[in-house]
Amino acid sequence: MSFQIRLHETDIAFTGESGESVLDAALRAGIELPYSCRKGVCGNCRGHVLEGTLVTGTQGGDPACGVRDAHEHLLCRARPASDLTVQPRHWQRIDPSARKTLQAKVFKITQPAPDVTVLQLRLPAGVRARFKAGQYLQVLLPDGTRRPYSMANAPHDNDNLQLHVRREPGGRFSDGVLPTLQTGDMLSVELPHGDFWLREDSDRPLVMVAGGTGFAPIQSILGHIVRQRITRPVTLYWGGRTPSDLYAPQQVDKWRTALPHLRYEAVISQPPGDDAWTGRTGRTGRLPAAVLTDYPDLSGHEVYACGAPALVAALREACVATAGLPPDRFFSDAFVSQAG
Ligand code: FES
Repeated sequence: MSFQIRLHETDIAFTGESGESVLDAALRAGIELPYSCRKGVCGNCRGHVLEGTLVTGTQGGDPACGVRDAHEHLLCRARPASDLTVQPRHWQRIDPSARKTLQAKVFKITQPAPDVTVLQLRLPAGVRARFKAGQYLQVLLPDGTRRPYSMANAPHDNDNLQLHVRREPGGRFSDGVLPTLQTGDMLSVELPHGDFWLREDSDRPLVMVAGGTGFAPIQSILGHIVRQRITRPVTLYWGGRTPSDLYAPQQVDKWRTALPHLRYEAVISQPPGDDAWTGRTGRTGRLPAAVLTDYPDLSGHEVYACGAPALVAALREACVATAGLPPDRFFSDAFVSQAG
């Protein structure tokens, strides 16, 4: 069975198949809505259903995801039970054919932290990856499953792909495939995906917040900012449990040289018991608290946040509810655990 799904105050309508989420139906029709995890965790896809009904059990969402009222739903979960009129937070047309499956060769494998691997992939001669700074790809595994990883390289550096992979015990890729990979092995990847990318039609100051390997898309965005000579003030917060979780200090040092308008704040929750740690030590609330202390008023800023869902949810709450950041200027990508 299929239903018509209409975008509020537009003449755009598309078909939602039985059992398909509103988000999947929109993407299939070439309409991109905000999304990240596609698992009902991050809240990026929340939108209003103004007319029609949803399949029981697919409505609503956790208030921690930003769902605020009875008509607001997570569109990656919401499945139509009738024709619908929906009002997403925003939307844009995309060309579904712009998404490509590429064969990439493992070029270099490094391990900058005990549980973090940087995987450098090289594309075939003449092939270029097209993506926006901050987007992600999906690694296509032989058993048909997929694993999402952000591109850490900037879009101009597009004959290769750099992925930052945190090992998850039991993770099909990070704990199963990755330890067996060797230089020269091939991986299938599909890109681009995701709504987390730098909006360049603004000159507002930027606050960027990365938790752990949430640094990867931020690295892509900052590489793009350097390349494009964007002069917006940037404050980068990078948080982890220990200093070794902040695994790319040389990269940060390069940006500090290249970007005089960059301020960097390292935030850890378990500082070592010596004088070697010169960054900000963790405190209650950790990254959100550090941001709020420095920026009690974010009404004139944009915030880009990437990390675990709990971190992203706490940052959204802190920035929007406490510091007055307009909700549509909070951009996020939540890394959902992919164990199994
Ligand atoms: S909650 Fe729907 S994309 Fe994350």
